[in-house]
Amino acid sequence: MSRGLRCFMLALAVACIGSSTAISIDEHGAIAGESGIEAASANSLAIEKAFAATQSSEDDRVVEIPAGGTYYVYSSTLANLTDVTFKIDGDLYVHDVLEDWPDTNGLYVFGFTDMTGLTITGNGKINGQGHDWWVAVARTDIAHNYRPNMFEMLRVTDCVIENFTTMDSPHFNFHMKDMLNLEIRYMTITTDWRKQEAILKEFGLFDFDLNIPMFPFNTDGFDPAGENIWIHDCEIENYDDAVAVKPSSSKYNTPCTKNVLVENIKVKYGVGMSIGSVSANSHHDCVDNVTFRNIEFEKPFKAIYIKTNPGGDEGVDSGSISNIVYENITIESPVWYAIYIGPQQMKEPDGAGTGCMAYPFGGGDENCPTNPLVPIVNVTLKDVSISGGVTPGVVRCNETAPCTGFDFDNVQYTSWASRLEGWICENVEGNEHKVQPKNCLA
Ligand SMILES: *[C@@H]1O[C@H](CO)[C@@H](O)[C@H](O)[C@H]1NC(C)=O
Ligand SMILES: *[C@@H]1O[C@H](CO)[C@@H](O)[C@H](O)[C@H]1NC(C)=O
Ligand SMILES: *[C@@H]1O[C@H](CO)[C@@H](O)[C@H](O)[C@H]1NC(C)=O
Ligand SMILES: *[C@@H]1O[C@H](CO)[C@@H](O)[C@H](O)[C@H]1NC(C)=O
Ligand SMILES: *[C@@H]1O[C@H](CO)[C@@H](O)[C@H](O)[C@H]1NC(C)=O
Ligand SMILES: *[C@@H]1O[C@H](CO)[C@@H](O)[C@H](O)[C@H]1NC(C)=O
Repeated sequence: MSRGLRCFMLALAVACIGSSTAISIDEHGAIAGESGIEAASANSLAIEKAFAATQSSEDDRVVEIPAGGTYYVYSSTLANLTDVTFKIDGDLYVHDVLEDWPDTNGLYVFGFTDMTGLTITGNGKINGQGHDWWVAVARTDIAHNYRPNMFEMLRVTDCVIENFTTMDSPHFNFHMKDMLNLEIRYMTITTDWRKQEAILKEFGLFDFDLNIPMFPFNTDGFDPAGENIWIHDCEIENYDDAVAVKPSSSKYNTPCTKNVLVENIKVKYGVGMSIGSVSANSHHDCVDNVTFRNIEFEKPFKAIYIKTNPGGDEGVDSGSISNIVYENITIESPVWYAIYIGPQQMKEPDGAGTGCMAYPFGGGDENCPTNPLVPIVNVTLKDVSISGGVTPGVVRCNETAPCTGFDFDNVQYTSWASRLEGWICENVEGNEHKVQPKNCLA
């Protein structure tokens, strides 16, 4: 390339960058550095206005939380917008006076619905200040789902989420339904699990015998449902599911959650790279073709985790889980099950759920029934290495609908402190090769 041409192209690039400026929330009435419901409401409204402003301009499609700024936020609703970038370079704090939030479910800090072309990026962080909500749930002052998710997304197409940090979410960090073409990368999620554990101990929700929590706080990392989803190169430290791939049965974008790849992720204290829970219902909840690979777990409560929900009427309701691969997975010092494939175990403090968290202790199969209406088909575990912990794993399906097409290849369990004799595997069919200890699928 000639020097002249290079200069011309450089000038063009500078001109292009110069012509589009981000729309700062400061231009729309944001109040930096102030807490309280007034500032938080003003800031959430400023975010909505800045998003609206992007739609009337060809070039200025970026909403910016300016670097160096601190903003308290409440709840922003964004819908029916296209080709917009949300650049979070400053620090956001969620307004955590519980009385100021409505007494209902479905709350969120950021709600995105019916969007096409959404990028959320930046080097900032969002502090969910979840502590008081966790206490309120543990005390049963509020229902377990009456607290805001950090991000609630519904029917978002062509979405990228990258680079920023979320911490101490009151409830799920990212709850995403009916997503089409989603990429999540270079994200960090942290949760003060020490505080969460202290709360559980204070309110009798911790099993001191088994040294495990009887209830996680639903501070899930990423819970996506949809199609063509790629989550990679993230770090997640929380006290619940790190990534929970949820079923879909949508009439709009995605009739089944499928084609999901989750790779290169470090998880600390999580409750699994999981599928589900999948229920049996009249619209057929479905998850198909999901791969988790190159995942490192440190002290997980669970790691490889596939769960069904109880319930449903035979001949009317159904669900399915198929073609799930876990490959190149390292699990260090699991707190409880390294591998758990079977019925959902959680019981909320307000009583919802099966509550067989300590299975097979505290009641056996009758407390933890498998669901014949949600078959689990074709699950591959390849190159899985587990060190420490108390049990290899649990794989339980129903006698009338066994798990089929299971393939365990090089699953190595070393140095477990045998609270249990070996695997608990019921009604599962398949092949195992180089599995230690043997005889789950044999
Ligand atoms: C988005 O626009 C469509 C078409 O006008 C409408 O049906 C839908 O309700 C809108 N979504 C939201 C969340 O407002
Ligand atoms: C996001 O992070 C990646 C990896 O660190 C980096 O290459 C990229 O430039 C970042 N993007 C933005 C918009 O800062
Ligand atoms: C399964 O999903 C991956 C993306 O993770 C995709 O590349 C592949 O084509 C899908 N397989 C089938 C059979 O659709
Ligand atoms: C397995 O995953 C680790 C990260 O956990 C990665 O460093 C390594 O390269 C992966 N191995 C293969 C063969 O992909
Ligand atoms: C199998 O499903 C039936 C019907 O839901 C249930 O009653 C039974 O307890 C299940 N079996 C096991 C072992 O969970
Ligand atoms: C399970 O895998 C087998 C062999 O690859 C395939 O023929 C079958 O269609 C798969 N089952 C489902 C439900 O995808």
